[in-house]
Amino acid sequence: MLPPTIEWAGNRIRLVDQRRLPHELVMVEATTTEELCGFIATLAVRGAPALGAAGAMGVALAWVRGEDVAAAGAVIKATRPTAVNLAWGVDRALAAADPVAEALRLAEDDVARNMAIGRHGAALIAPGSRVLTHCHTGSLACVGWGTALGVIRAAWESGTDLSVWVDETRPLLQGARLTAWELQTLGIPATLVADVMAGSLMASGDVDLAIVGADRIAANGDVANKIGTYQVAVLCHHHGIPFYVAAPRSTFDPATPDGASIEVEERSADEVTSFAGARSAPVGMAALNRAFDVTPAALVAGYVTEDGVFRSPPSFG
Ligand code: MRU
Repeated sequence: MLPPTIEWAGNRIRLVDQRRLPHELVMVEATTTEELCGFIATLAVRGAPALGAAGAMGVALAWVRGEDVAAAGAVIKATRPTAVNLAWGVDRALAAADPVAEALRLAEDDVARNMAIGRHGAALIAPGSRVLTHCHTGSLACVGWGTALGVIRAAWESGTDLSVWVDETRPLLQGARLTAWELQTLGIPATLVADVMAGSLMASGDVDLAIVGADRIAANGDVANKIGTYQVAVLCHHHGIPFYVAAPRSTFDPATPDGASIEVEERSADEVTSFAGARSAPVGMAALNRAFDVTPAALVAGYVTEDGVFRSPPSFG
């Protein structure tokens, strides 16, 4: 039903072009580091775990082409700084004797780990729950299955009746374009809402829990995720609604002590001053476009990982 987001196709990397969804499901191929970096920068491939696979496959690509793998790895890492999985994937392939074999292992592992996250997290969703999620954390954000959306999917497929509030996720609409498409494809009941409606929904008693993914989790448990996540967490706290973060071990970054140390990617102002390619703000208007925000650990009810659900960030040895 859902194709692999990214796969090694023998001297090239084939990936779903997420920029074109929900209108069409098409694949594109990267044959050089430069092409791959273009796909990463423009979000043809995106989502922390998918970026991990892209990083590893990028190094593998440079290796089979006989290029300087360290240089390729450095260029790939610099494309998007916040999602730690990108650098993690690059480093794993760089450390391997055979980067292709390592990239394949990482991709296969990704799906298994996400399914384990789903199994652990599904227990958090009581029958009849109305679950709010932000951004897109499904199969397309990983090699397969998904993290936060994978938890929702696991609960649904194990027979738990539930419904999902899908934040549209301004400015690039990962929720409206990708989460909505994926939930529809899977037949999971879902309703799209503007991001700014989350508070109203919680105030009217229509949200039972929120679950999101992460791009980097600092050693103290602070969570970098798509811009707008922090607002959801603060609203959950105010309304006494549990706010969960689902992520694989590869997203936990012990080298980053806290959220203040996380580099937050800033993207082009055009993404805010335009909508679907058409200008929506006056010409010359300044705009600030932080792609991520940081949610303090104190607002997180639990971290859902492949090893279980933890109240505080687990220290993976
Ligand atoms: O800018 P994006 O679309 O790559 O941002 C993605 C997110 O913020 C996701 O929530 C995160 O990467 C987790 S994906 C399982």
